[in-house]
Order: sequence, then structure tokens, then C-alpha cells
Amino acid sequence: MTVKEIFDTMDYGPAPESAGDALAWIVDQGSRFGMYINGDWTAARGEFHSRNPANGETLADLTQAIPTDNDDAVAAARAAKQGSAGLGGHGRARYLYAIARLLQKHSRLFAVLETLDNGKPIRESRDIDIPLAQRHFYYHAGMAQLMAAELPGREAHGVCGQIIPWNFPLLMLAWKIAPALAAGNTVVLKPAEYTSLTALLFADICTQAGLPRGVVNIVTGDGEVGEALVSHPGIDKVAFTGSTPVGRAIRTATAGSGKALTLELGGKSPYIVFEDADIDSAIEGLVDAIWFNQGQVCCAGSRLIVQEGIAETFHSRLRARMDKLRMGNPLDKCIDVGAIVDPVQLQTISKMVDSNTSGEIYRANVELPSEGCFYPPTLITGLHPSDALMQDEIFGPVLVGTTFRTPEEAVQIANNTRYGLAATLWSENINVALDIAPKLAAGVVWINGTNMFDAAAGFGGVRESGFGREGGWEGMSAYTRPGGKADKLEEVIAFKGDAGPSDPLDRTAKLYVGGKQARPDGGYSRGVHGPEGALLGHVSLANRKDVRNAVEAAKGAASWGATTGHLRAQILYYIAENLSARADEFANRIEALTGRKDGAREVQAAISRLFTYGAWADKFDGQVHNVPIRAVALAMREPVGVIGALCDDAQPLLGLVSVIGPAMAMGNRTVMVASEAFPLAATDFYQILETSDVPGGVVNILTGSHGELAKTLADHMDVDAVWSFSSSDLSGAIERGAAANLKRTWVNNGRKRDWFGAEGEGRAFLDAATEVKNIWVPYGA
Ligand code: NAI
Repeated sequence: MTVKEIFDTMDYGPAPESAGDALAWIVDQGSRFGMYINGDWTAARGEFHSRNPANGETLADLTQAIPTDNDDAVAAARAAKQGSAGLGGHGRARYLYAIARLLQKHSRLFAVLETLDNGKPIRESRDIDIPLAQRHFYYHAGMAQLMAAELPGREAHGVCGQIIPWNFPLLMLAWKIAPALAAGNTVVLKPAEYTSLTALLFADICTQAGLPRGVVNIVTGDGEVGEALVSHPGIDKVAFTGSTPVGRAIRTATAGSGKALTLELGGKSPYIVFEDADIDSAIEGLVDAIWFNQGQVCCAGSRLIVQEGIAETFHSRLRARMDKLRMGNPLDKCIDVGAIVDPVQLQTISKMVDSNTSGEIYRANVELPSEGCFYPPTLITGLHPSDALMQDEIFGPVLVGTTFRTPEEAVQIANNTRYGLAATLWSENINVALDIAPKLAAGVVWINGTNMFDAAAGFGGVRESGFGREGGWEGMSAYTRPGGKADKLEEVIAFKGDAGPSDPLDRTAKLYVGGKQARPDGGYSRGVHGPEGALLGHVSLANRKDVRNAVEAAKGAASWGATTGHLRAQILYYIAENLSARADEFANRIEALTGRKDGAREVQAAISRLFTYGAWADKFDGQVHNVPIRAVALAMREPVGVIGALCDDAQPLLGLVSVIGPAMAMGNRTVMVASEAFPLAATDFYQILETSDVPGGVVNILTGSHGELAKTLADHMDVDAVWSFSSSDLSGAIERGAAANLKRTWVNNGRKRDWFGAEGEGRAFLDAATEVKNIWVPYGA
């Protein structure tokens, strides 16, 4: 036999991992699990099963939490809250470190149990899921240690309700629990109903680590349990990973409750291959992008976009590679593609693929196991960017694709989705790669590689892929809030009067849209009176159409985001200078409007604030994360986009400038709704903007009813974020409206802000004005 013949005929033999220890652990627990509440196990009620999707066998009986279980878990977490914060950062670091060590010690047990319960190949659970989960706890042990020094003035939210999906059960648990505990929160976590077992084993680890009772509580059950948990009044923060429709439902359910929320949702991530790419590497990358975990990955590179010149070669080499994928028993160490998590998910995938009538379908020529939930690796090429399968998340081993000609077209197709979680691009040309990466609408971009993750690099999306980041400083901050208690909001009411005009000249302030003064669409205005009833002027009442025009103008000014921080700083200083030249006039106006005597102080504070953001414009840098692989993750701070903001009523100039400043500094465009009670300071201010080189559309100023305009802004699909500092509490309405396109919101939840003090400016504003995009670049040897 020649060496060639040996190679040609060689095949893999079975290399099964033993399930013995994991099955024995289940049996030791009586194969029936209660829930982990306040450090104890509740009685098992055996209400639903956890099954091995590779063979359909029942692994264990689980308990469906009823409302009183949620109550008990939340009460235990609330009671443990003081103790947890009282441990101090170092105390918490020691527990997190202990958990990390225990996860490491029992890593094989976790890996096998995960594979049994979820169907993912043991190679993945052993080499990816479990090590990354450990890494998360180690990393966050460090975060706990550093929190007091590095996040001064911030404190834990309190009790976190955390809901996780079934695709990475232990890893998602680690992503949620590690930062929450590091910051001093306590948690009630609900694993997905298909895959609760590693969470229950983790509960055991908490006991072994001696974690104080109630710090971690695990309740099990389906979506109803999750729904009850997010609505529970004892929860301070909700963190969810799962489908976009459920994320939207949670946004609606928590609207106006004051609960903090982070959502990590679905995706339809592009995988772009330029014609100068290393094709073999790009194909190996694709194996990871779409067949890792059977494609049940939120950031799966599920939309293949190949440059036309290489498309034919690429597709045929890809088909050949697909035929070499090994499917079968997930516990076999040589398996590439394991089982789909549940028959329900298998049916969803089949239905979606079967309903497609376009393109060309190729199913890998691999042998499917005779039992269990398996779906063959599938490629569908020649689709149109608007085809359903190019738009909807399949969440299975199905890659869909199209081609492009120019880099611009690649970006256009890549961004033609309502999602924005991750993107991968392959090119040997550094200029192409670094030109395209910033243009992709995604929270994570991988260059010449894919599916790179680390606890140090925040992960999360833009658009309908959700908001917030997990990992890194951004992820840690999301588990904290500013310390101290803010006073209750007091509504500022406009003065009324029937006195005649103080100036015989008619002064009806127009709106400011696209760099021009604009009459209100509805043709309505109202008189603005001083405290003694004198008529100071008229102000336009903007309506829905005016909001649309302002958003359109803001959208059109997108190039502002591509200008340099240096230029933005210059313009902010210039605005300050021009305001300074008219300081007395503005001070008099504020005093006439409000009846207060501190107009000069407010103007000086506004000038200083503009200087602050001029200073920050070229200094609020990103980071280069030191990730433990041969790559760097560049955490770039990008503008959020179009921000709609309802301004503070009491400080009509300072409240306006305090929002325009950070938004402009970071490259955003704004639709500002001026103080409802005292709008004339804002309409005077656009004269300053007009003389300060601010490009048209970067700042648009509307006047009118906060209640009406907030709703329109929150509903608008082209608005990326809505902030409200209005003296009317519009938090609920804004958060409810925001659910439609999952825009970011920053609302005051009925609390007052001191615009003259430290909370009137700084990092919180800059953070809210930016999205962090992590661009992973292979680097060094
Ligand atoms: P899902 O979003 O329904 O479930 C995720 C978690 O949320 C589970 O723990 C579930 O019990 C819980 N849940 C369900 N309804 C809830 C509600 N109203 N309130 C609070 N919690 C609730 O995902 P599902 O049904 O398991 O999968 C359906 C599709 O969702 C998949 O085909 C996939 O497209 C997508 N998905 C996306 C994930 C991601 O990581 N982005 C993860 C899992 C699913």
C-alpha cells in the first residue's frame, strides 16, 4: 500500500467521550431537580424534561417555577444584597476567583453535561464554551477588585433578573453572573427550558465556593417564568439574551419601571469575502462561522457575501469542504456538527428552508445519524439581498449567500438588515479591510478570522440586535449605576398671561431644521410669557411632520460622524466663543423667561460645558484590548447616530447645551426638543449655531409639547436613541415606543438632575453618545 493510498482510504474511527461521570452526577441528584433558592434546593416537582437531542432520551426531570418561587428567589436575592455589597470589591473578587477555579477543576464534567443537554460537539464545549466561561469569572474577579478605584461613584443596581438562551448555556450564564457579582449585585437567573442542567451544576459550584446564600438563585422553566421574572417589582436590572421578538416584549414590559435593561438579541451577520482573500482560510473561517454549534449562534456568519470574480471557485471549494464535515454523536471527539437543540428548533429550520424558492440549494453530502435531531450543513447561493432567508435569522446550519462587485456594494448588502450584531470580512489588503470595518453596522467586526471572543472585549449589537455590551469595561458598567439618590422630578409649568407684547415687533421664533429656520408644518404657535404675564414672544408648535423633517435633515448630515475629533472640538469652541460674545443678552433672556436671577451663572455654565465637550471631542478614546490570542481587539467609539432629546425645562440654555455638547463631540446628529416651558433661549441659540460653522442638520431644534414630540421621536424608525431630561416624566412612553426598532433610551425615570453639578456633564454623556465597536485584527506572532 502506498502512502497516497493510505491517505485516500484513511477514515476517522470513533473517539467517544464517556458520559459516565455526567450521567452519574444526574443520578446522584435523583434525576429530578428542584431550584436553587437562597442557597438551598427546593423540592423537585418533575414538571418538564431535559432531553438529549442527539438521541431523544430524557436526562432529568425539572421544575417549572411558579410565581411564589420567583417571589422567594427575588426575596432571597434582595436579602443578600446588603451582604454582597458589604463584602467589598476584594471580598467579591475572592469568591469569583474561587468559582473560576472550581469551574476549571470540574471542566470535563461541565463539558460533557453541556454536550448531553444541548447536542453541541464535545470538542466545542470542552475547548470553547467551558474555558471561556472560566475566563469570564477570572476576568471579573479582577473587575471586582478594581471597581472602587476604576468606577468611582458607581454602585450595584441591586437584584438582577437574568434570562439566557439554550445555545451556550453555561457560557451565557457566565457572561451574566460574573459581571453582576463583580459589581456587587445579586441575581436570579433563569436558564432556557431546553438546557438547564449546567446552570444547576453551577449552583452546586456556588455552594462549594461558599458563596453567601441568596447571592445566586436559579429558577427553571419556560418563557412564562421569564416573563414573570422581568416584571417582578423586586428586580432592579434585567439582562436578556435570546430572540429579538422576546427582547422587544421585555423592552415593552419593563418600560417606565425604572429597571435597567440590556438586550443581546439576534443577528444575520454578514461574512464578506473580497477577491484578494486567502480563500482556504476564508472557507475554514466559514466552517466556524456557520457550522459552529450547528449555526445556533446569535453572531453566526450566516450571510455569505462573496466578490463576483471568485464566487464560482469559492462556492465550489466550499461545497467540497462541506462534504468533509463530520456529523454525528456530539460526544464523539471527531465530530464537527452535532445535534440541533430540540425537535421544535429542527422544525423551525426545516420550515424556513423549505419555504424558500429562490437560489440554488446544496446540502452537504454527509450521512445523517438515524436518530436524534440533526440537520445537514446547507448552502443556498444566488439569493437576493431582500429574500426572506437573507433577512431572517434561521438559527441553524444553513448559510445563505449572494455576490457583490464593488466594496461599496459589499457594505450596502452587509448593512441591508435590521440587525447589527457582528460582521466578518476577509481581504489580504489592509487598506480594504480597514476601510470597510468602520462602515459595517455591527457591534463586533472580525477581520480575517471569525467568532473571536474574550471577556476583555465587549460583545453586543446595534440596531435590532439589542443594546448594551457584555464583557470589558462597558459590560461591567452596565451592572452599575450612579451612586446616591436623586430628588423627584418637579414639573416646570410655562407661565401664562394676557398682557400685550413687551415689544411691538412680532417675534415668532421658528423651528431650526437642516441648518435653516423653518415654519411649523401645522401653522400653530403659542405665546411665551414671563412670570409676571408679559408676552415675551411666540414660539412654534412642532408636530409629527416637523419631527420627520428634522430626522430627515439629521440623517442627511451623516458625514458629521466621519469628521475628526479635532474639527468637532474647533466647532464646539467656536460655539462657546459666539455664546460668550452674547452672554449678557442670553442671561437677560433666561431671567425674563424664568423669573430667576441666575441667568449669568447659567450662561457661564453653558460656555464652560461647551469647552468641556470641545476638550473631550478629541480625547474620549477607544481602547486596544489585550486579548489572550494572537489578535488585538480595537474598541472603537462610534457615534450612536441620530439622537432625539427632550431637554430640561428649568435650565433652558444649560439643559440644551449639555446634550448638544456630548452628542456633537462624539459625531452624532441631534433633534433637540427645547424646554417646553421656556423655549426662547433655545430659539435664540440657533442664531449662535448659524454663525459657528455647524453644518446644517447636525443640530435641529424643535419647540412644542414634550409629551407629543417624545412619542413621535420614540416611534421613529430612523432615530437611533432618545434621551429625556424633560420635567414631565415621559420615561414609560419613550421606552415603550423604543421597542419597535429597539432604539437606545436614556430617560430620567422621574428623577431630577443637577445640571450645574457633576452629574450635568462627563463620561455618562459620552458613553451614551457612543457605541463601542470591537474590531478584531490578527496581530503579531
Ligand atoms: P427565546 O428568545 O424565546 O428564548 C430565550 C430565553 O427567553 C429562554 O430562557 C426563554 O425561556 C425566555 N423567554 C421566552 N419568552 C420570554 C418572555 N416573554 N419573557 C421573558 N423571557 C422569555 O428563544 P427560543 O424560542 O428558544 O428560540 C427561538 C428563536 O430565537 C431561535 O430560532 C433564534 O432565532 C432566536 N434565538 C436567538 C438567540 C441569541 O442568542 N440571539 C438565542 C436563542 C434563540
